[in-house]
Amino acid sequence: MNNFWSDNIQGIMTLYLSRKLRFHDQFSEQYKNIFALNDRAGLKILEIGCGPGALAESLHRWFPGAQITAIDRDSRFISFAKANIPGVDFLEGDATQLPFEDQSFDVTISNTVQEHIEPTAFWGEQRRVLKPGGICLCLSARKGIQCTAPCLEMTAEEKDFWDSVPESDDEFEKYGIGKYRVSEAELPAAMERSGFTEITTGYALIDLTPDAPKYSPQMAEAMIEAMRLNDLEAIQSVHSDRARKAMDAVNAKYNERIRLYREGIRQWDTSVSVTMIVRGRR
Ligand SMILES: C[S@@+](CC[C@H](N)C(=O)[O-])C[C@H]1O[C@@H](n2cnc3c(N)ncnc32)[C@H](O)[C@@H]1O
Repeated sequence: MNNFWSDNIQGIMTLYLSRKLRFHDQFSEQYKNIFALNDRAGLKILEIGCGPGALAESLHRWFPGAQITAIDRDSRFISFAKANIPGVDFLEGDATQLPFEDQSFDVTISNTVQEHIEPTAFWGEQRRVLKPGGICLCLSARKGIQCTAPCLEMTAEEKDFWDSVPESDDEFEKYGIGKYRVSEAELPAAMERSGFTEITTGYALIDLTPDAPKYSPQMAEAMIEAMRLNDLEAIQSVHSDRARKAMDAVNAKYNERIRLYREGIRQWDTSVSVTMIVRGRR
C-alpha cells in the first residue's frame, strides 16, 4: 500500500480535474497530430505514472481500437481510477520495475512523470516493454501563462494559514520531487541517448480561459472548480486545525468567481499550459 503521492504531493481531485481539462476532447487534435499513432484494433498502449487516470480515460476515447493499460505506484490513485474509469486496465506498480514481459506494448506514454524517475530506469524499462518499432511518448509540462482574477487573489485567511506552516514542511524538497527535470533541449537528447530513434518534438497549448466564448458554461465552470479543488486539497494535505478557516475562505472566493461568471461579469483570468511531447521509436 503506497499513498505517498496522494498524501504528500497532489490529491486525487487536483490531478484528476486538472488533467480532465488538459486532455479534454476540445484539445484532442493537437495531441493526436503529435502522437501520430495508427489507431488499429488491438494497439497496445501502456501509460506510466497514470495518477488518477484522466489521460488514460481520454486515450480510451481518442483511440477506441486500442487496448490500454495504465500503471502507478500510488494505491489511492489506482483505486479511484478503477472505480471511475471503465475500459482501461489500471494496476498498481513501479515504473522502475514494470511488471510486464519484454516487447509487450506498441506504445508507452507518460505525462509529467519523467522528471521524478531515475532516467536509466525510466527510459530503459519503456524500451524493454516496447515491441521493436514501438513508440515512446513523453509528455512534460513547460512554463505556461497564469493570470488570476482579482477575486481569486490569496485571501488573508489563506495567507495566515500558509504562514503558519513550518518551512521544513517543503514536501517537494523532502521527497526529491522533480529531481530529474531537464530542459526542452535535454529531454529529446536523453531519449536519443537511451537508444530511441526518429525523435520528434511538439507542443500542445491548452488555453483555459473561463470567459472565452469558445468554451461552454459546463467547461468554464469545470475550469473554476478544478482551481477550487487544487487550493482545497493543498490546504487539507497539511492536516492542521487551522485548515477550516482557510478552506471556508477558498470556497467563498470561488463561489464569487462562479457568480461573476454566471452574471456575465467577465474577468478574463487565464491559465495557459504548455505540454512538450517528445516522440521516439524503439
Ligand atoms: C505529477 S504526477 C502525474 C500523474 C498523471 N500522469 C497525471 O498527469 O495526472 C506523477 C505520478 O507519477 C507517479 N510515480 C512517481 N514515481 C513512480 C514510479 N517509480 N512508479 C510508478 N509511478 C510513479 C506518482 O505516483 C504520480 O501519480
